[in-house]
Amino acid sequence: MHSANGTAPGASPSVGSTAPRKRINAHVTGWGRYVPAQILSNKDLERMVDTSDEWIVSRTGISERRVAAAHETTASMGSVAALRAIHAAGIDPDEIDLILLATLTPDYWMPSTAALVKEAIGNTRAAAMDVAAACSGFVYGFATAQAWIESGLAKHVLVIGAELLTRFLDYTDRGTCILFGDGAGAAVLSASEEPGGSLAIELTTEPQGAYMIWLPAGGAKSPPSAETIARGEHFIRMEGKETYRFATRTLASTALESVRKAGLEPDDISLFIPHQANIRIIEAVAKGLDLPMDRMYTNVDRYGNTSAASVPIAMAEAVNEGRVKAGDNITIVAFGAGFTSGAVTINWTADPARGRDADEAIRPQDVHVRLPVDWDSVDPIPPALAEIMARPGTVNPPLDDVVPGEPEPASHPVAR
Ligand code: ACO
Repeated sequence: MHSANGTAPGASPSVGSTAPRKRINAHVTGWGRYVPAQILSNKDLERMVDTSDEWIVSRTGISERRVAAAHETTASMGSVAALRAIHAAGIDPDEIDLILLATLTPDYWMPSTAALVKEAIGNTRAAAMDVAAACSGFVYGFATAQAWIESGLAKHVLVIGAELLTRFLDYTDRGTCILFGDGAGAAVLSASEEPGGSLAIELTTEPQGAYMIWLPAGGAKSPPSAETIARGEHFIRMEGKETYRFATRTLASTALESVRKAGLEPDDISLFIPHQANIRIIEAVAKGLDLPMDRMYTNVDRYGNTSAASVPIAMAEAVNEGRVKAGDNITIVAFGAGFTSGAVTINWTADPARGRDADEAIRPQDVHVRLPVDWDSVDPIPPALAEIMARPGTVNPPLDDVVPGEPEPASHPVAR
């Protein structure tokens, strides 16, 4: 953003003013999501590793997940979700002051994926940076956006969660490859003196879990080499049981802390929107909060775990499906590698109808992420997925044309 004194464009500077400053609240004014067209079903996975549809559904609740096509990237998916959120907010992309993109699968180590998204959405003004808090990243970004808005630093903040996890999975490890999928979600938070909006934040980090979910190689401690590749250290590794224990212990307590900080009780929350990792974890949260499952939003059956994208995808779908109304209190809550967890309790004020035509209004094929000059990318599709990505009907334009895929098939529309 370009304001020298840190004042949001359009906001009045308080220096020298004697009038009491009114409290600025951060309201969610836009929401959107994008998922790739290609489906990887449990049946597909049965042909790749020693697993079964019955095991995956009963232990995780996942039936299928999405896989990004060769021409898609974290930035391209994030850009589509972002433009849909901006469309719902009814603002121009250039009104955004700050772009926060949460991901554990950035397109590159540098530049940030947020910088690529800034260009792709046609914004010239915003500061842009990535947020690294794994599956809790969107909630961490959301909390940061709230702080920027309440302090007067920004008027409109775009928060994105975008992940392309299927390129970082070991398709011989049945403990991890069945869990994750690709996609992106986004929200616009806007400053307003009206009551409501984001009410209370709770964020935790417990580093004793640092090596429970991790990606060993590629960073400064273990730079990428033929040896790290041969050892498979460029894939996500996870101690499932330990992670499961952390998640069931932490999700409910983090959500509860955020709800109480907002001066509310769980019964005042009409919908919890938890990180979609495992239906059993979500059931444990409901039990921990002594609430029925219909107060928990779930779509883990269709997308699996999309890490930082999971909460904003779920939030956009919940609102578009009519599960959230103006005046409702909702709580978004996530956990992830680190171990991290985060929750924000929100008093929803936007008209849910605003997001419902975003999928038609923002077409993936119209959104372009610029590629480097004189650089040929290798085919990014993991060999284990090559067959499903070559299925008839799969959109596969040349690699030098990074344009997100076709809208998803009619069998999986966003509910209206
Ligand atoms: N298909 C069939 N059998 C399997 C599979 C599979 N895909 N995976 C494991 N098994 C086997 C195991 O080998 C084991 O067999 P054994 O008893 O002969 O040794 C048996 O099933 C039970 O394995 P568990 O690991 O005990 O299975 P569990 O019920 O714990 O479920 C799971 C495993 C689904 C991974 C669960 O532990 C879990 O969901 N953990 C949390 C994962 C998570 O949420 N991660 C995301 C974190 S967010 C982030 O930041 C990335």
